[in-house]
Amino acid sequence: MRKIFLISLIFILALTFTAQADEIKIGACIYRFNDAFMLRFRNAMTDEAAKLGAKIELSDGRDDQNVQNEQIDAFINDGVNVLIINPVDRMASQPIIDKAKGKNIPVVFINREPAPEMLNSYEKAFYVGAKAEESGTEAGELIAEYFKKNPEADKNHDGKIQFVLLKGQNGHQDMILRSKYSVEAIKNAGFEPVELASAIANWDKLQAMQIMNAFTMAIGPENIEAVIANNDEMALGAIEALKNNDYNKGDKNFYIPVVGVDANASALEAMDKGEMLGTVLNDADNQGIAAVRLANALAANGDIKAIGYEITENKYIWIPYQKVTRGEKK
Ligand code: BGC
Ligand code: CA
Repeated sequence: MRKIFLISLIFILALTFTAQADEIKIGACIYRFNDAFMLRFRNAMTDEAAKLGAKIELSDGRDDQNVQNEQIDAFINDGVNVLIINPVDRMASQPIIDKAKGKNIPVVFINREPAPEMLNSYEKAFYVGAKAEESGTEAGELIAEYFKKNPEADKNHDGKIQFVLLKGQNGHQDMILRSKYSVEAIKNAGFEPVELASAIANWDKLQAMQIMNAFTMAIGPENIEAVIANNDEMALGAIEALKNNDYNKGDKNFYIPVVGVDANASALEAMDKGEMLGTVLNDADNQGIAAVRLANALAANGDIKAIGYEITENKYIWIPYQKVTRGEKK
């Protein structure tokens, strides 16, 4: 009896040890936890890691590249098998890649795209994200489509669209390309875009609200025909400011179409209430799942072609964007 007990005990111990030895450890560095979109992203990654039986640890870079660099060192010292990096400053990715390469640790970048030459400097460096220009184009199309359906949206009847632009963090590919392509799409739809004002609000709702307050005061809400925000949080901040001016509260004569990007729950809610025109789905779920599956396969020396997402140029997984609107404005 005792012998059987001992044997089974040894067997159980052996099992747990092998399980621990085989378990993939993922170290995931997020630029800032306090970001509504990155929260969706984090949840998707945690869920997928649990499904795959991988261990994932997440760190909050608190929007400081130095803090993040220390967290990367700590993960490496901890013996993680693979890194997922959402860099604070995507242009500071080269030292991160060099460090990972020196230790032969694969690294999957997410959401903030390193320059191609950086990614190309290490065969185990990848990027999972969405094409920024696509989201810009789709956001601009939402505005143009609204003006086609609602000619009275051209309040000063000059055939042009007078807009204000709220931009994300400086240097972020989504800030640069969404700004550029949303205006481009308005042009391509046959309207002349006129930028009344633009400012960086760092993806942040409060900053956007303050900036929009200043814009409405300087320009007059009656002279603003559209608000283009690089993400939903800033769109919602702008809407707060408009509501303070008795705009976007349900009266069609006091309404300015506002578009964002992400399709966060709070934006969908604002759209349901008729406060916000539309958004573009930034698919955090699929980006998170793809990043974790890729990281897991890389760490396990598995087949990265079998993870269910197409890898282009041996480097990139691109998750498509999608326009989102709610019903028709009357
Ligand atoms: C999202 C923003 C987010 C940013 C963080 C963008 O893709 O649209 O909402 O703040 O990524 O890097
Ligand atoms: Ca006009």
